Amino acid sequence: MKVAVIGVGHVGLTTAACLAADGHEVVGLDDDEARIDDLQEGAMPFYEPGLDDLVRAEAKAGRLRFSHEPAEAIPGAEVAFICVGTPTRADGSPDLSAVQRAAATVATHAQSPTVVAEKSTVPVRTGERIKQALALEAQAQGGASAHEVVSNPEFLREGTAVEDTLRPDRVVVGADTERAHAVMRRLWQPLLDRHDCPYVATDVRTAELIKHASNAFLATKISFINSVARVCERAGADVETVADAMGHDPRIGRAFLNAGLGYGGSCFPKDVQAFLHIAGDLGYDFGLLRETERVNREARLWPVAQLRRLLWNLSDKTVAVLGVAFKPGTDDVRAAPALDVIEELSAEGATVRIHDPVALPNVRDRFPEVTRAEDVTSCLDGAHAVLLATEWDEYVQLPPARLAQLLAYPIVVDARNAWDADALRAQGLTVARVGAPQVEVLPGL
Ligand SMILES: NC(=O)c1ccc[n+]([C@@H]2O[C@H](COP(=O)([O-])OP(=O)(O)OC[C@H]3O[C@@H](n4cnc5c(N)ncnc54)[C@H](O)[C@@H]3O)[C@@H](O)[C@H]2O)c1
Repeated sequence: MKVAVIGVGHVGLTTAACLAADGHEVVGLDDDEARIDDLQEGAMPFYEPGLDDLVRAEAKAGRLRFSHEPAEAIPGAEVAFICVGTPTRADGSPDLSAVQRAAATVATHAQSPTVVAEKSTVPVRTGERIKQALALEAQAQGGASAHEVVSNPEFLREGTAVEDTLRPDRVVVGADTERAHAVMRRLWQPLLDRHDCPYVATDVRTAELIKHASNAFLATKISFINSVARVCERAGADVETVADAMGHDPRIGRAFLNAGLGYGGSCFPKDVQAFLHIAGDLGYDFGLLRETERVNREARLWPVAQLRRLLWNLSDKTVAVLGVAFKPGTDDVRAAPALDVIEELSAEGATVRIHDPVALPNVRDRFPEVTRAEDVTSCLDGAHAVLLATEWDEYVQLPPARLAQLLAYPIVVDARNAWDADALRAQGLTVARVGAPQVEVLPGL
């Protein structure tokens, strides 16, 4: 089938490449001309494991093209995916102006009835707004819209986006007509033929809501375990063992029960806020989500409190922060917890050195005063403490003896509970862990 993908960011580019891999003829469209120029030359706009090879292979096979000209992408497409950003506005509501512009692009350039598929995460009932925009545009041009609008939410995770898209846990399609359902089923059939997963066919509103409910639930699970961590710290218990034991219960599951710095990235913070806002607009106060957000903000304060406790004044201290990406496997720093921590450390007068295997270029403008270390060794060398903020393998595998040798003071704050605390302690290091009993004997005493 001929497919247009509007917005070739993390979601759009992955969707476009994977649809091409399943035999569809895909054109990726973006209004960022530099991004399209780069893609046409085979350069990737962001780091996502495996995506560069797939994009290049599908482009070479002629199934995937890129353009900034709607006239080259939209006419003839049976399905036009909207994969543009939906950032948060000051009041917490999502900014849907890019979605509206993308819909207008279809209205202006489609020459035959097209199924417009929302893949961007949007509030429930956005489908009706898109339908309205298409209808008004058609009327303005003296006709009637024959386009249909469906919701096909995306559940990929950055870092494993290709695998998640090629082999999803489920495909959710919301449509309000048989015809639209049939088109979408035909689109996904090659995937379903090679990968067995549930295909959830529903109406547009329900599909829109599934996405926000899923992300809000996962975020709440993270905040739940972070609250349990706060109780563990005060009670002298260990949250990791609590989470492991809870996770053995299949009704609970171990995933997303990782106490740490809380959730970040381009989706959870934005989607929780949006869902809270939408519920409010619909007359329901989803207070649980407000609490999820409060606990998440609190989680980001933990490392600096630990460093203060272990180092006393931070003003004359050097802290090595390992990791700035919001999680391993990506260079995305949007709403990354490490950024707040770095800001707070700097505000307290600490000298901050940061390292990340791939994300440093993305924080160049935000922290001009912070030293961006070229490698882990120069980040750690002579620092008074190390803070593990993103659990990249490269950091997790660091030999404890190496840490002990490089640090000026033997102080480790593991904000991801990723290091083997006993092995670190065996090297004479003092280790603060999330949701563990507080360090009783201060380092040096
Ligand atoms: N990133 C994720 O892990 C993820 C997962 C699931 C869902 N989502 C949702 O998918 C949507 C896109 O997220 P993303 O991370 O891919 O965003 P992104 O910022 O990486 O990419 C968005 C792209 O859309 C382009 N764009 C914006 N307006 C446009 C327009 N009118 N016409 C053409 N191109 C336009 C931008 O230039 C950019 O390239 C969001 O709603 C997000 O919540 C993201």
